[in-house]
Amino acid sequence: MQIYRSSLLRFADDGQALYDEDGLLAVAPDDRGQQRVVAAGSWQALQAQFTGQPGAEVTHLPGRILAPGFIDLHIHYPQTDVIGAPAAGLLPWLEKYTFPHESAFCERAHADSVAEFFLDELQRNGVTTALAFATSHPGSVDALMGASQARGMRMITGKVLQDRHSPDGVRDQTEQSLIDTETLIQRWHGVDRLGYAITPRFAPTSTHEQLRGAGELAARYADVWIQSHVAENLDEVRWVAELFPKARSYLSVYDDFGLMRERAVYAHCIHLDDEDRALMRERSTAAAVSPTSNLFLGSGFFDFARADAAQFLYGLASDVGGGMSFSPFRTMQAAYVAGREGQTKQGLSLSPGNLWWQHTAGAARALGLAGQVGNLQPGCEADFVVINPACTPLLERKTRQAESLDELLFAMIILGDDRLIERTVVSQAK
Ligand code: GUN
Ligand code: ZN
Repeated sequence: MQIYRSSLLRFADDGQALYDEDGLLAVAPDDRGQQRVVAAGSWQALQAQFTGQPGAEVTHLPGRILAPGFIDLHIHYPQTDVIGAPAAGLLPWLEKYTFPHESAFCERAHADSVAEFFLDELQRNGVTTALAFATSHPGSVDALMGASQARGMRMITGKVLQDRHSPDGVRDQTEQSLIDTETLIQRWHGVDRLGYAITPRFAPTSTHEQLRGAGELAARYADVWIQSHVAENLDEVRWVAELFPKARSYLSVYDDFGLMRERAVYAHCIHLDDEDRALMRERSTAAAVSPTSNLFLGSGFFDFARADAAQFLYGLASDVGGGMSFSPFRTMQAAYVAGREGQTKQGLSLSPGNLWWQHTAGAARALGLAGQVGNLQPGCEADFVVINPACTPLLERKTRQAESLDELLFAMIILGDDRLIERTVVSQAK
């Protein structure tokens, strides 16, 4: 058993942040070799019971905070090199930068090398679980799955489906794309810590036949994830209305094809109406809120207040390469700023504890993985980060002055980046 003594951040079932200044985290392998949290709480209360056990090893990390590994609910690994590509908006950005970059993933060696860099960058930033787009090339999925498996990382990804309105090099063939998807589900879903996501890029780039086939697979493989984009940009919304004139709304296109259910995650969800929000809740479908991407591409603002009023699931995401950073701190910071925009404008935005929850335990709940990842309660897989709150002179100064947990978390959210992450530990040591 491995025991850590340091400050400890975790979350109660209701999302409340729990903090022990002098905390204890005990971790031990289960019968499959998966490291899990055995105990978490105050050092005072737990040390007598756990430090005395045979084989218990204590690691003391003074001045450090142990916290759940972050979960990125929506990211594109093949867009690692697209970050910072300027365009007037989503559609020209896709055409000018994204599709040409993604076409290079027909080469397996390129996919392998980007996958390794991408995973290094996730881990350097404290991200231990991601729901990631690959490209339309099946080998791009094999590359990310294989590299994640070798590191023991929890990764969910899928081959992009896009059989129309896409240039040569990324466009796939309807029937073959569905055969490839099923082959990849059978190859990877549920293997070690890997999961498959059926991945139509977005409604405009799939034919009705492809969406129908995706929905059929989603019904046959009920514990496989679904990921796509919806209602990100007004030109995109208008285009969908032309292509699917019978649909009530953009979101309902996905519902009409059986693509809204538990474990479905839609990036952006900006230009929704209240009927869409009620449908999100009814179908237990989640939104991946991507504030740095929405700011970069000028897409708009996710309405947190209306999402809460409708009570649908959501969590935070970087959306790299539309997004500006791999760092969950930069995403939480942007979410705080963007959270001022919605309808309420009550002055204050989201609380720091809630922002952090949205990128950890809340994101796990959105994925249907509550109690497994995104938290450090007993039974959770032991994915965690070691944070050094004194990693820069200003952070050292600000965090030292914090008089409450809110002040401490806020200082890190507003001033933090990858420098805060001293170490990232994934639960299945290989
Ligand atoms: N909509 C369809 N494809 C994409 C993509 O790659 N990035 C973003 N942000 N939106 C999309
Ligand atoms: Zn995206």
